[in-house]
Amino acid sequence: MSDLSQEAVDGLVAQALEAFAAANTTTELKAARLAHLGDKAPVVLANKSLGELPKEDRREAGQRIGQARAAINAAFAAREAEISAAELAQALVAERVDVTLPVEVAPAGAPHPITALMDLVSDAFVAMGWEIAEGPEAEGEWLNFDALNIGPDHPARATSDTLFIDPIDNHLLLRTHTSPVQIRSLLSRPLPVYIICPGKTYRADEFDATHVPVFHQFEGLAVDKGITLANLRGSLDRFAQAMFGDEIRTRMRPHYFPFTEPSAEVDLQCFVCHGESVGNPDKPCRTCKSEGWIEWGGCGVVNPRVLAACGIDTDVYSGFAFGMGVERTLMFRNNAADMRDMVEGDVRFSRSLKGAAR
Ligand code: PHE
Repeated sequence: MSDLSQEAVDGLVAQALEAFAAANTTTELKAARLAHLGDKAPVVLANKSLGELPKEDRREAGQRIGQARAAINAAFAAREAEISAAELAQALVAERVDVTLPVEVAPAGAPHPITALMDLVSDAFVAMGWEIAEGPEAEGEWLNFDALNIGPDHPARATSDTLFIDPIDNHLLLRTHTSPVQIRSLLSRPLPVYIICPGKTYRADEFDATHVPVFHQFEGLAVDKGITLANLRGSLDRFAQAMFGDEIRTRMRPHYFPFTEPSAEVDLQCFVCHGESVGNPDKPCRTCKSEGWIEWGGCGVVNPRVLAACGIDTDVYSGFAFGMGVERTLMFRNNAADMRDMVEGDVRFSRSLKGAAR
C-alpha cells in the first residue's frame, strides 16, 4: 500500500469499524478481524510498507498507522464484548432449565418380599441375642439326612422327593430343608448355640399356587443346659407375635420328625376367621378350611441322637429346633395368595408387598 495519507488511513479505519459493526456473531466477527487486523489486513501491510517511505516521512506516517491500528483494535474489543454478552444472554434463555419441573426418574426396583421377610426374621432373633448361621445349598447327603436321624429307608430320601446331584454316588444333593445347618452349627460352634438360619431349599415338587420346587425356610436351633419344651413354646409365641402381631395365637400339635423328640407342628390361629368358622357351617372359611388353625411349620426338642452325632454330652445339654417356610409366612402375613407371584420376578409384586419388611 503506497497511499499512507491521513485520508486513506482514516478510510481503512472506517472500513474496519463498519465490518465489525456488521458482524453479529462470534464467527462473523472472527472473519472481520482476520480481514482488518490479520497478517494480510491493509493496515498491517501499511505498517510493513513504512520502511519503503523516505526517512523524513516515516515518523508521521508511522504515528498515523499506529493510531489507526489502535482505533481498529479498540473497536474490535468493544464489538467482541458486545457480541459475547449478547450470545451469553441468548444462551441463558435458550438453554434455560426449569429446575422446578417434575422429573421422570427411572423407577427403582424393590427388595424382593422373600428377602425382606428373611431379613425381618433374622432381625427378630438377632434382637434376642441369637446368631445368623448359613450353610451351602448343595449339601452332603449325610448332613441333610443321616446326621438328622433320617434313616436310609426314609421316603423323603427317594429321588422322587429329593433332587440329587449327578453322579448320585457323590452323595450330594440340593438341601431339602435348612436342618443340616443344625448339624453344621453344632459341629463348628462352641456351646451354647442359639442360631437362626434363613435360606433356600429344594424339593422335587410341582410348581403351582401353593408349591414351588425352590423355596425358603428358616431354621432355629437352641442348645444349652436345661432347655425344655417350655422354652420352645415361649420362643415360638414371642416370634409369632413379632411376625403377626400381639393378637396371634399359636398351638402345637403332636407330630413326628426324626430329628426332634417330642415333635410338633406349629399352627397359627386362622388370621381370616379367627376360629369363628369352626362348627359354624353358616360362616365357612376357605383359608383354614373351617378348621380354625393353619399349619406354619415344624418344631420339637432336639433328638439326643442328633446331639450325640455331633459329640455333645446329652446328660448336660438339650435343645429345641423349629423350621418354617418363608413363602408360607409371607402368604399369611401379607395376604399373598399365589406362590407363583413370588418367583416370577414382576417388580409390581415386590412393590405391592413393600410392607413385608415392616
Ligand atoms: N426340617 C423340617 C421340615 O423341613 C422342619 C423342622 C425343623 C421340624 C426343625 C422340626 C425342627 O419340614
